Amino acid sequence: MVKIAVLGYGVVGSGTVEVFYKNKESLEKKAGQELDIKYILDIRDFDDSPYKDKFVKDFDIILNDPEVTVIAEVIGGLKFSYPYVKSALEAGKSVVTSNKELVAAKGAELLAIAKEKNVNFFFEASVGGGIPVIKPIHTCLEANEIDEIAGILNGTTNFILTKMIRDGMGFDEALKIAQDLGYAERDPSADVDGHDTCRKICILASLAFGKHVYPENVHTEGITKVTLEDVNYCDSCDCKIKLIGCAKREENGEISIGVFPAVIRDESQLAGVNDVFNAILVRGDATGDVVFYGKGAGKLPTASAVVSDIVSAAKHQNTSISLTWKDSEQTFVRSFDKFSCANYIRFAATDKAAAEAVIKAEFSGVEYLSRNNMPDNELAFIADVMDENSVNAALEKLSAHGEVLGRIRALDY
Ligand code: HSE
Repeated sequence: MVKIAVLGYGVVGSGTVEVFYKNKESLEKKAGQELDIKYILDIRDFDDSPYKDKFVKDFDIILNDPEVTVIAEVIGGLKFSYPYVKSALEAGKSVVTSNKELVAAKGAELLAIAKEKNVNFFFEASVGGGIPVIKPIHTCLEANEIDEIAGILNGTTNFILTKMIRDGMGFDEALKIAQDLGYAERDPSADVDGHDTCRKICILASLAFGKHVYPENVHTEGITKVTLEDVNYCDSCDCKIKLIGCAKREENGEISIGVFPAVIRDESQLAGVNDVFNAILVRGDATGDVVFYGKGAGKLPTASAVVSDIVSAAKHQNTSISLTWKDSEQTFVRSFDKFSCANYIRFAATDKAAAEAVIKAEFSGVEYLSRNNMPDNELAFIADVMDENSVNAALEKLSAHGEVLGRIRALDY
């Protein structure tokens, strides 16, 4: 019998317990042995819960119980989860987690401890909710060198952008619905400012490129500056705006990586990904593009990945099959100044002729856009690929003749 402890009984924790007991019989067949949840750690009381006898408030009860060999950490954040997970691994217990903040900040260290102690540290639920993506990249795609990964990795922001694009709904109303549906993080800035996407692309990049990519080295922008006017201009040229996390291996071994709203052509496999759905495009040197698609947030989809990792940990009790990646030096991530892509620009001109002259001189391949009720002094266009330094210099010159109202990078996936 494998005894399990679940740390945290919030949305994902309660979903994990629910899926576990709903499918216990078939999970035991798959694990080849009996399984049970011995403890649930939470500071709150759940006196009406059918599992009330399993609740404890002191982590040391779990840590010091030799019967518990698999721990599912679904608390989130770093404050409690990091010391709990580290001490559990050091005590020779396997850990599975949905906590992207933990993996993005401490993955290299925790994976090294798991290897040293011959236990497993799994985190399928940390990226893409219910979409299997970590294990498939690690195992099914291991014949490939991964050249590039790009994804819609945050359900909340994709839900908000979908409401803006399809229904012309305002940002705040759409965010409130996403929160009510249990998609959003407790602090919505983690979603809307791009930090959640950043953590997830860091995990995918670390996995794909073999060295830890730290979130603080990644240029990160959210969706709060995207307007309905931008959505309309993009609609006029058959494009959608999506929050994208992308990472690419450069020829010299550096990684180009960033998180920002991006204009994507309608024919892209990422453009039709709507609502809470996520999609992760992996470009392998043998496979070409492979796209993983499914529900990226929500109680039961995320619990599905946690429970699946619990079964894997139970099956591989005395062998460490966790993937590993190395810690990295600062130079692994290329300076974002060198990032190159096309750009959508929206501009309110004080002198339209002068602004058009600057656009002609500073940008190439310019495609002008229009929308209903477009003010006379407004200019919107998509310009061909330029690096960040050149775009910023061009926008500064343009600013002499009015105000830049919007700038969104355009990607070609
Ligand atoms: N807040 C996250 C999202 C939850 O909306 O995608 C899943 O990581």
